[in-house]
Amino acid sequence: MSSEQVVELLKKAYSDEIETVMNYQTNAIVLDGVRAEEIKESLQADVQEELGHSEMLGQRLKQLGARPPGSAEFEAQQDSLQPVEDSTDVLSVIEGVIDAEEGAIETYRSLITAAEEADDPVTEDLAVTLLADEEAHLTEFKGFRKEYRQD
Ligand SMILES: [Fe+2]
Ligand SMILES: [Fe+2]
Repeated sequence: MSSEQVVELLKKAYSDEIETVMNYQTNAIVLDGVRAEEIKESLQADVQEELGHSEMLGQRLKQLGARPPGSAEFEAQQDSLQPVEDSTDVLSVIEGVIDAEEGAIETYRSLITAAEEADDPVTEDLAVTLLADEEAHLTEFKGFRKEYRQD
């Protein structure tokens, strides 16, 4: 794999992180009810973390002589994270978060492989760090799903 593929994956990851920031924040605001409180707090904390991810990806793009995309290049992907009709439907937000985190995990795994093959250990190291964060988010929300499925 070439360094162009590394750049393309970094750009994709950057856009996905920005979309995640938007949808986690929106859902944290939209959700209602006592049962949603813990999910809202967790989403708000993740907004800051995902924003930090996007910044690290953007800085790496710059170091590679590229740039992060602006909104004109943006294509929305996260169908399952659109704000739900029923603002107390916590479970469907949890499912949407799980989809987003699984997608991010897949992208960072691809980036690790591409960076390794392009002999770019710095990007590889960044992708490993971000992968670890997304795996932690996924585990947390799978735990929430267990709990919320029971009622
Ligand atoms: Fe992230
Ligand atoms: Fe995440």
